[in-house]
Amino acid sequence: MEKVTVIGAGTMGNGIAHVFAMNGIKVSLVDVSAEKLEAALKTIDKNLWRMVAKEKIKEEDKQQTIENITTHTSVEAAVKDADLVVEAASEKLEVKLKIFESLDQHAPAGCILASNTSSISITKIASATNRPKQVIGMHFMNPVPVMKLVEIIRGYATDDATADAIIELSKKLNKIPVIVNDYPGFVANRILMPMINEAICTLHEGVAGVKEIDTVMKLGMAHPMGPLQLADFIGLDICLSILRVLHDGFGNPKYAPSPLLVNMVMANKLGRKSGEGFYEYNRETKDVKVSSSFA
Ligand code: NAI
Repeated sequence: MEKVTVIGAGTMGNGIAHVFAMNGIKVSLVDVSAEKLEAALKTIDKNLWRMVAKEKIKEEDKQQTIENITTHTSVEAAVKDADLVVEAASEKLEVKLKIFESLDQHAPAGCILASNTSSISITKIASATNRPKQVIGMHFMNPVPVMKLVEIIRGYATDDATADAIIELSKKLNKIPVIVNDYPGFVANRILMPMINEAICTLHEGVAGVKEIDTVMKLGMAHPMGPLQLADFIGLDICLSILRVLHDGFGNPKYAPSPLLVNMVMANKLGRKSGEGFYEYNRETKDVKVSSSFA
């Protein structure tokens, strides 16, 4: 695959563009405004400098990577000669259905359409197109340039040729692909989110504090990050929406989101991105401490 279009230049989209471009693939990066695209290029540039400083890549590789990326605000122009599109726009079903309808109209017939969704059904997304065999989930982990896993999700109709092409491509990106079927939460979030939810319930019931819960899971289970810290990192709104997908999809009360999580999202305490969740994040000093609501 030589030409890839990435739709959405946010946290995940800029990381996905970075990884493709660093592996010699021409990337067309699309977002709704020039400002968003400029911010994404700045982030990619900063992250590439970090890799140069750590001697993971040379300065000329950084330059070549940047040159491999072009930016667009129109889907039509960006996909006209794409071999693959990876959609990493906002996690909203209506947004994704609209995007896939338009991709199906404008992308060449042989182009594979992938989504980086964390939880929306690939089968549902594929239903917005006339090429469901060529629609697949390509779920990268955050931060994309660092994390090795790509969870590849086969929708109900995804064919072998599409799955094989995406497995090969993931290997070319130096990632480790794992193929799974399309059921709520796939594998990663079906297992991770109930753990995070249970950690929030444990806090809510007063069994232990934020630091204690995270320390038990870090030191006791050798997790690099405690579940509450991880929830802040992912975003509490994202955790809540994935839990709702699991709850609706399986109809099992064990997935019901903790009322504390629901309250925090309603109060706009979304974790690191809003400056406060279970921890408080000081942008200037980079200081992190347990939120005063739980201290
Ligand atoms: P984000 O909010 O940082 O970025 C989304 C970007 O999509 C924004 O820049 C927005 O302007 C753009 N966008 C929205 N509608 C668009 C449209 N119609 N056309 C083009 N661009 C559009 O979100 P984030 O975190 O990057 O998530 C993107 C996707 O990746 C979601 O589906 C999310 O579930 C998934 N994901 C997120 C992870 C995370 O840790 N943040 C991890 C793995 C998957």
